[in-house]
Amino acid sequence: MSDFLPFALPDIGEEEIAEVIDSLRSGWLTTGPKTKRFEEEFAAFIGEGVEAVAVNSATAGLHLALEAVGVGPNDEVITTAYTFTASAEVVRYLGADPVFVDIDPNTFNIDATQVELAISPRTKAIIPVHFAGLACDMEILHTIAAKHQLKIVEDAAHALPSTFCGKLVGTLDSDATVYSFYATKTITTGEGGMVVTRNPELARRCRVMRLHGISRDVFDRYTSTKPAWHYEVIAPGYKYNMTDVAASIGIHQLKKAWNFRERRAQMAVLYDEAFADLPVMLPPRAPGKDVHAWHLYVLRLGQAAPISRERFIEAMAKNGIGCSVHFIPLHLHPYWRDRYTLKLGDFPHATHAYEKVVSLPLYTKMTDMDQKRVIAAVREILTG
Ligand SMILES: Cc1ncc(COP(=O)(O)O)c(C=O)c1O
Repeated sequence: MSDFLPFALPDIGEEEIAEVIDSLRSGWLTTGPKTKRFEEEFAAFIGEGVEAVAVNSATAGLHLALEAVGVGPNDEVITTAYTFTASAEVVRYLGADPVFVDIDPNTFNIDATQVELAISPRTKAIIPVHFAGLACDMEILHTIAAKHQLKIVEDAAHALPSTFCGKLVGTLDSDATVYSFYATKTITTGEGGMVVTRNPELARRCRVMRLHGISRDVFDRYTSTKPAWHYEVIAPGYKYNMTDVAASIGIHQLKKAWNFRERRAQMAVLYDEAFADLPVMLPPRAPGKDVHAWHLYVLRLGQAAPISRERFIEAMAKNGIGCSVHFIPLHLHPYWRDRYTLKLGDFPHATHAYEKVVSLPLYTKMTDMDQKRVIAAVREILTG
């Protein structure tokens, strides 16, 4: 269908294109001045003295952050069952085990009460995921972490920009916060991610491990009389560095992050108004004056909805509109289910949410007409 409205599209302007061309012409394609600039500007955007380490995905960033906080074989890391597999697979990379807990049925964020119940002597860290861009209650999670001496690595793949109690996610005193710049995210570099931390040692470890465990910093400090070609490998690192081509896109996307967010928030309000009388539950708002990033607009079909979620998505597709589902909870995927002997009933709120949710298109490239089209289709399908 020629006028198909996709579920998501990036919003790339002439500035991004010109900056990429500039990088291509410069001859410097991999990590270099543009990546450094993107890191500096990202750190300034988050504020409060954080450092930012650019990587080639949020998955890479989560892996590096967990490695840097010392997660290793036989440790346990508590996270939500209601997330993308990346939040948990990184724990397995390090030979540790994710321990899944259920969500709060209102916010779809990790249930802090369940987190505390899941703590064992092996627990090393917690990975909260700010679902759809609505921040988790980080105050409770920090209290639990402090009480049990656990590290916190926030999965902020959806949360640029989001606030909790008036403070930007990234400044909440977790050990690290990790953002995604995947093509559908609130800002994009195609593929990319950023680790943000206030701990200089953690940032340094991430910088070393993102590039093969090569420590030019250590080299510079201790052997500066050696020639520039010399380097030392101090650990078996990874190949997770961001390219300057990607950073060129990110530099300009970042400048637009607040405007993008305003537009998505306006669209979310319009959706809320248009669906208020339908047999659906609307996505929760951020409490008080807090900022919801509105990465996703997740509608929940109510008991009185005349159609199943599967049929709803099919009907939307017939209307030429792409939808998605966030998320298929991890305990329903064969690997996680079989590896940890998980059962359907283990996380009832996550399972129930999964059965009823549909993510509608919500992105800045959509026109008012596009949104009206989505609204008309949803209303037609749900009112018969
Ligand atoms: C909650 C969550 N965490 C992590 C990721 C991984 O991000 P990336 O594709 O940048 O590795 C995603 C991607 O969709 C996600 O939704």
